[in-house]
Amino acid sequence: MDYKLLVQKAIEAKQNAYAPYSNFRVGAALLTEDDQIITGCNVEISSYSLTICAERNAIFKAYSDGIRKFKAIAVAADTIDYISPCGACRQVISDLCGDIDVILINGNNETKILRTQQLLPFAFTDKELNKKDLS
Ligand code: THU
Repeated sequence: MDYKLLVQKAIEAKQNAYAPYSNFRVGAALLTEDDQIITGCNVEISSYSLTICAERNAIFKAYSDGIRKFKAIAVAADTIDYISPCGACRQVISDLCGDIDVILINGNNETKILRTQQLLPFAFTDKELNKKDLS
């Protein structure tokens, strides 16, 4: 699958980043099962911990629109190295998107594709909720 358009949308979404505290801009573009693209960017809050990452913004936007099945997510930042999604976003991608392609984009617009399971091996999932020791 050619992710050229998805990558382009993630790079464009980065322009909307609201990052007055970190100046670290991130854009994300989520590819739905029926080939729609939902974008997101990071939005920072003066009480820093309330900040939302680009990946989660895109995924929550999609869920809010009733979309539940995805093929891939692209994530773009201005860094020399490929952006590495934070731990919270890895868990959210795992829970809400499953094992999809995660396309990482560096500041030179080069790409590297990983799977969710590579980013979050041995993930906690909803299956764990049924494995409680009830004795
Ligand atoms: N950020 C993201 O949007 N995605 C990530 O995967 C890593 C971090 C944002 C959060 C914050 O606005 C800024 O980057 C610096 O941490």
